[in-house]
Amino acid sequence: MTQQTTNDSEGLETLQETVEELGLHKIQRHIFLCADQTKPKCCSHEEGLASWNYLKRRLTELGLDQPSAEVPSCVFRTKANCLRVCCSGPILLVYPDGVWYNQATPSAIEEIIQHHLLNNQVVEEYFLATHPLPNVDSE
Ligand code: FES
Repeated sequence: MTQQTTNDSEGLETLQETVEELGLHKIQRHIFLCADQTKPKCCSHEEGLASWNYLKRRLTELGLDQPSAEVPSCVFRTKANCLRVCCSGPILLVYPDGVWYNQATPSAIEEIIQHHLLNNQVVEEYFLATHPLPNVDSE
């Protein structure tokens, strides 16, 4: 076993601070959106970026992106290069629910935020598939 150097300790401290700042232990849902793709297939590069920018802006405006005193959980978002559906995009996925959406334009994203994120109701109009990930402890 190697001895940890000062730099390793500082790196771990920085890492832990980042984990705290991001609120990783307080994530309630994680959204993946196909955007800014290397090879845009499900939608144009511009459409993907427009949806991504809208998602980021609305999560921030609604205070969903950071845990707060009133709401101690948050919604994480990740720009995916490709979610492998590659048609009818932008493709958007919500975990842990495992709900996939297609045609996630800014107006669709607003519906998904208002109904799915804030009221736990799947938006049928853009619904593609559902598959919550299996609980590995129960297998
Ligand atoms: S390019 Fe969007 S899902 Fe593959």
